[in-house]
Amino acid sequence: MNQRLLGCLTVIPLSLLCGCGAKERSKDTTVRVTWHQDVAPLVNESCVGCHVDGGIAPFSLTTYEAAAPFAGMMADATELGVMPPFLAQDTEECQVNHPWVDDLRLTAEEQLMLRRWADQGAPEGDPETAAALPAPPDLELKDKDETHAIAAPVEVSGSKDKFMCFSLPLNNASIQFLEGVQINPGNESIVHHVLVYADESGASEALADENGAYECFGGPGFNDAALIAAWAPGALPSEMPAGVGLAIQPNTRLVINVHYHPTGAGVETDEGTSVDLRWYDGLPEWVGILQLIGNFSGTLFGGSYGLQPGPNDEDGVEFRIPAGVSDHTETMIFPLPTSIPDNTRIWQMATHMHYVGTDMLIGLVRDDPQESEPADECLIHTPRWDFNWQRGYLYDGPMDTLPTAKPGDLVYLQCGYDNSMGNPHVAEALADQGLDAPVDVFLGEETLDEMCLGVFGLAFPISEFL
Ligand code: HEC
Repeated sequence: MNQRLLGCLTVIPLSLLCGCGAKERSKDTTVRVTWHQDVAPLVNESCVGCHVDGGIAPFSLTTYEAAAPFAGMMADATELGVMPPFLAQDTEECQVNHPWVDDLRLTAEEQLMLRRWADQGAPEGDPETAAALPAPPDLELKDKDETHAIAAPVEVSGSKDKFMCFSLPLNNASIQFLEGVQINPGNESIVHHVLVYADESGASEALADENGAYECFGGPGFNDAALIAAWAPGALPSEMPAGVGLAIQPNTRLVINVHYHPTGAGVETDEGTSVDLRWYDGLPEWVGILQLIGNFSGTLFGGSYGLQPGPNDEDGVEFRIPAGVSDHTETMIFPLPTSIPDNTRIWQMATHMHYVGTDMLIGLVRDDPQESEPADECLIHTPRWDFNWQRGYLYDGPMDTLPTAKPGDLVYLQCGYDNSMGNPHVAEALADQGLDAPVDVFLGEETLDEMCLGVFGLAFPISEFL
């Protein structure tokens, strides 16, 4: 039997014998927690999407024998909020006023249950009276209309990550409204994560070879593309909120940005990463748009907006993360444009940085707050930013209860960076480039460049659009 499990088991008889206060004792032993009766349903719902043999996570949690040795670590990782991976968090600086759709985080009761299970020595319980296991989540997009796949297979080998973009024409003659998107990784052992962009200007076509492919890193390689979906292991299909259709302009191209991570087992091939789309039937009630705000390299409009003065500026206001600095911050402020209608709502938020980034917060200061609107509202905080788990986060609730956004409201972005060897992502990215010490980091598209970018999912009533 595993050492850790033995250690736990010896604790129980001792605590029973030691004559601790009745209160203590009831906390630890009267609420008996077992694998078959309590823990297995939770773990099946929240963990085994990744913690399965051959899955992305380093160990399986599918059976009692597999999970029991990890009981203490499971309680620790869930209490710390590290597992399941969900970057949006409530923090001292940021209390988001709306619940998130498909919030993976465990409740306090669920965390306590895992803690009790570990404290009680991870008992198995009776398999005869096991609680029913929840059905696994449905990973298929319902009623898809079309599928767009990369045109030629991609090979990876060696140990270096490879970032490829694929430019695919949608050939839509008129504006269309997108309702659902699903990303299908072609080879899950090497496809690490995938971002899909809408390229309205068609700029990606000029970058691509005859197969529509080109190398790129954390984005599509040009400025005005909008992130429409993201995939990391365990991701569900993206569905717009009820009544919302994302406006896709005529002749838009899709850019599929795939991050490949070779396993080291020789030449490996991705035969066909693809994207499924479902279009809105008729006209939606709300027209969705995705607005990118951030990545300012200097001040705007006479100095008050854009990039703000920072702690390590040397040459005026500059976006520069000095080599070796572990707690650098860049701040940006931007007024929402007059092109958005007064009755706009925010339904989705995403933060975006690269490997040096550690912490990002986005908020909104309202120009003329009405009674029901906070004057200063935190929209999202990702305090343990991780390039590998990036995605959009949707607010849960009817559209007319979601945060309002009006022209002139000020968006603020706070991006924290650790550009030292103490940041494992930096150390790894440097090693990939054959470097062994940090370098000054600037704004840009490459692996060792950085970003500070917010993706705002906005929507307004269709009457504003027609
Ligand atoms: C979306 C995929 C995914 C889900 C869902 C998930 N994990 Fe993980 N887990 C991982 C990966 C990947 C790792 C390896 C570390 C990393 O990459 O962050 C990991 C690592 C861990 C670790 C080791 C942490 C450490 O400190 O090294 C524990 C414990 C753990 N997971 C428990 C859980 C539990 C309990 C759940 C469910 C409540 C869960 N995980 C859900 C992907 C997942």
